[in-house]
Amino acid sequence: MTQDEMKKNAAWAALEYVPRHTVVGVGTGSTVNHFIDALATIKNDIKGAVSSSVQSTEKMRALGIEVLDLNDVDSFSVYVDGADEINPQHHMIKGGGAALTREKIVAAVADKFICIVDASKQVDVLGKFPLPVEVIPMARNYVARELTKLGGRPVWRDKVVTDNGNIILDVFDLKIVDPIALEQQINQITGVVCNGIFAMRPANLVLVGTAEGTQVLS
Ligand code: 5RP
Repeated sequence: MTQDEMKKNAAWAALEYVPRHTVVGVGTGSTVNHFIDALATIKNDIKGAVSSSVQSTEKMRALGIEVLDLNDVDSFSVYVDGADEINPQHHMIKGGGAALTREKIVAAVADKFICIVDASKQVDVLGKFPLPVEVIPMARNYVARELTKLGGRPVWRDKVVTDNGNIILDVFDLKIVDPIALEQQINQITGVVCNGIFAMRPANLVLVGTAEGTQVLS
């Protein structure tokens, strides 16, 4: 079974956890693209979706799923998104697709975060995947120096501008032993919009696509 087939299995399994007649929060990425295909099959049974990126919005609209403005939605129960890495505490690194800020905002509003991944995303310690940090463009070099002081090796992601008009620094060589503390510490650097550690608000449920089927971790 390919990695993409495992992603697809996890994504379609998430459909079972989507309450009907409510708004659904939708993440970004190749795993979520499978979830959007699945969501389209029940589009008449949901009130609509709140999106975490232009990419997901365009795909949902093309499939006839109504996309709502987050400012018009006070609460909703489920946010479904992928991850670049996830540890046993359900802390994640996200932002491989540069959508981390909007993903963190939509996740913050949801009652429940359902993470859909293939088995290759499971790690004991976060940090092998370079940590994405969204930065205001004029602060790029300052933030890079501050991230270096934390022991990381920041690299400017070439030609990438986020949906919010910012840039991404990918931070290599971090061994993230205390994800909550590092998430807070990086947020304190002036010029950082958001960092890709999702630990203060971890996933509530993880659906792992494996060659043997989908594993449910709560
Ligand atoms: C996008 C993300 C994605 O969830 C993450 O990169 C995983 O992507 P994929 O499902 O394509 O492996 O955080 O910003």
